[in-house]
Amino acid sequence: MESRALLLLLLIGSMMIGGIKCTTTIFEFTNNCQYPVWVGTLSGAGTPALNQTGFYLPEGKSVDLSTPRSWSGRFWGRTGCAADPDTEKFRCETADCATDAVACDGHGPTPPVTLVEITLGGGTSNDYYDVSLVDGFNLPISVEPVDGTGDCKDTACSANLNTDCPDDLKVTASNDTAVVGCKSACDAFEEPIYCCTGDYGSPSTCGPSNYSQIFKEACPSAYSYAYDDASSVFTCVGASYVVTFCP
Ligand SMILES: *[C@@H]1O[C@H](CO)[C@@H](O)[C@H](O)[C@H]1NC(C)=O
Ligand SMILES: *[C@@H]1O[C@H](CO)[C@@H](O)[C@H](O)[C@H]1NC(C)=O
Ligand SMILES: *[C@@H]1O[C@H](CO)[C@@H](O)[C@H](O)[C@H]1NC(C)=O
Repeated sequence: MESRALLLLLLIGSMMIGGIKCTTTIFEFTNNCQYPVWVGTLSGAGTPALNQTGFYLPEGKSVDLSTPRSWSGRFWGRTGCAADPDTEKFRCETADCATDAVACDGHGPTPPVTLVEITLGGGTSNDYYDVSLVDGFNLPISVEPVDGTGDCKDTACSANLNTDCPDDLKVTASNDTAVVGCKSACDAFEEPIYCCTGDYGSPSTCGPSNYSQIFKEACPSAYSYAYDDASSVFTCVGASYVVTFCP
């Protein structure tokens, strides 16, 4: 009887310590680009908003952000941001979240945007993570799990798709001809065959397109179209993550 009570006490004790140790997941954001990035974060439906929904990340700098252990959401990098000279409102050339401010405050990015998508498993079951080009591309990103158990592979879109972007998907800067983003074929043409909607709304009816194949060749581990799951979703248990812009 007594030893059973002791065992129970030990069990509860270790669960408490485990709980305290594992209440957050750390994401380290690093900017290796030759330009500043303004990170955006968006929590998924039903998960808590983060302390930081947008922040400035200068060239060569790293910033840590904690999320709850059971959290889901998205991260992205905004480029070419500044206060508009006329209106003084904060604007970004790519992936703007249209809040007139650095904080995205529950608003998602304007495509084209390279997305990091995360669903955390609470520390005991699988985290799911991917880099997605389903909403297009604006800058290279990698995601590396650290100290997790399981498969835990790195994933990325390391190539600069702005230089390989098909002409009909290119987005140029407002003030010059530099390509700052590459649209998804879905956003560019709004056709079910590219968007995997309507008659093409299932994995068996929506395959890669001539456009998504260009994305897949440049970035083999990133989502190139909506049903590209097989080669684009990664899992790891109880990891921290390093998210790098321009890896
Ligand atoms: C929220 O962010 C601020 C500034 O980075 C930091 O000092 C604070 O500890 C954070 N709070 C939580 C709960 O992460
Ligand atoms: C265009 O705008 C970007 C970002 O606002 C700026 O860095 C760049 O110098 C501008 N280019 C020209 C040609 O004005
Ligand atoms: C993709 O295929 C469509 C339809 O056949 C064609 O109009 C388009 O030019 C092709 N684009 C590329 C980049 O190959």
